[in-house]
Amino acid sequence: KTIPDRFPDNFLWGGATAANQLEGGWNLDGKGLTTAEVVQKAEDRQNFTMNEVTPGSLEAAIADKTDELYPKRRGIDFYHHYKEDIKLFAEMGFKAFRLSIAWARIFPNGDETEPNEAGLQFYDDVFAECRHYGIEPVVTISHYEMPLGLTLKYNGWANRKTIEFFTKYTEVLFKRYRGVVKYWMTFNEINASTWGFTGTGAVDSELDEQDKMQLRYQALHHEFMASAFAVKQCHQIDPEAKIGCMLARMQTYSNTPNPIDVRAAQLQDQLNLFFTDVQVRGEYPEYMNRYFAENGISIKMQSDDQQIISDGKVDYLGFSYYMSTVTSANDEVEKATGNFAFGGKNPYLETSDWGWQIDPLGLRITLNEFWDRYRVPLFIVENGLGAIDEVASDGKIHDDYRIDYLRKHIEQMKEAIKDGVNLIGYTMWGPIDLISASTSEMSKRYGFIYVDQDDEGNGTLNRIRKDSFAWYKNVIASNGENL
Ligand code: BG6
Repeated sequence: KTIPDRFPDNFLWGGATAANQLEGGWNLDGKGLTTAEVVQKAEDRQNFTMNEVTPGSLEAAIADKTDELYPKRRGIDFYHHYKEDIKLFAEMGFKAFRLSIAWARIFPNGDETEPNEAGLQFYDDVFAECRHYGIEPVVTISHYEMPLGLTLKYNGWANRKTIEFFTKYTEVLFKRYRGVVKYWMTFNEINASTWGFTGTGAVDSELDEQDKMQLRYQALHHEFMASAFAVKQCHQIDPEAKIGCMLARMQTYSNTPNPIDVRAAQLQDQLNLFFTDVQVRGEYPEYMNRYFAENGISIKMQSDDQQIISDGKVDYLGFSYYMSTVTSANDEVEKATGNFAFGGKNPYLETSDWGWQIDPLGLRITLNEFWDRYRVPLFIVENGLGAIDEVASDGKIHDDYRIDYLRKHIEQMKEAIKDGVNLIGYTMWGPIDLISASTSEMSKRYGFIYVDQDDEGNGTLNRIRKDSFAWYKNVIASNGENL
């Protein structure tokens, strides 16, 4: 058999974004407030509180009608700039653009019976613009947000009823965008649900640790169910479309060759792969029974839940990959930082300005592991480098560090393809600078396109091509040959 030595011809090169970090227009055309828009900007970028929402902080956020403390309300005003932005993506030769739909544009409070036409129209316009340039929209149905109304009335995903609202929402989407959107994804980084509010939309600040975990895993079960229903619905409504899951991959290594560390790393890995085990294989894996029992967690299921999950297996596995960590049985390694600060430091790796451990080879390891385990098409739907960019005296942004990061990861993708992995696409995170998910900063930039806006929201919002823009254009034009 021949070994593939290049990216497939129809490889989906592009970039990925999320409504709440990009759009702005938070209160326009009937849109409701979302869970992302009540989380304040972090005071300290290393020690932030993305998931800390209390009943009091919610009340204050609802009363506040400005975007001053809540940068996700303003994004980068893609709502008014989408034509210009998609044109720039097209100039780079994008084959795919990953974006999310703000659920609260379609159902402002989440539980209405009729959708908001203006919200649907906005995405009609965005998708038409993509299609005009031959760009495939890759759409996340819920990216770290839901209508705040669902939090206030039902405590988000903690309530089984939220499945019904989601199912109504997805039915509207699949019917409206049938034939227009061919790649869907249900929940962004579904593992975030075990980390708190960003994933569950449930306020759990008053609970003790045990009850928190109970609530989060129950909420997650409801998301698994909602995702399974969506998969079935999508296949019925638009048999041509593909629908995937999305995991924040946390590649981890054993800190030493000591078997107790190796076993600790294995468990850590299982706790990360649990989500894709459910969504790709269609059942709760056995190792979680023991984990749940030992941690006093018990998931309430109805009699046909398991069958529904089994009928709702996804078509492809989408994942984000930014870094890797190290696991030790004895907590003897220094903690690494990341969005959600898991795991330990690896002395062999360099870190980003935010302490994320840069590990391109880890991407190849992850790709091989996923392919061995799941045998479904893989789609890297996020990968990138958050950095402080300076506009130089020549008015340009010389971001060779970003080129270097992306190049090394793309090289490893190619190696994985040679290993035999079925990889269908790569949408790097944040092709245009946007608001950070974890800290809500603007100064943590990922883009090929610089956006003139600071952390306080000052600036012209002008878009400027960085050096990496021309580089990525060349990567796509050569289908990954010229790195
Ligand atoms: C992923 C999220 O975790 O990481 C994105 O899906 C996020 O929404 C990205 O923006 C980068 O994280 P951050 O915190 O640097 O924006």
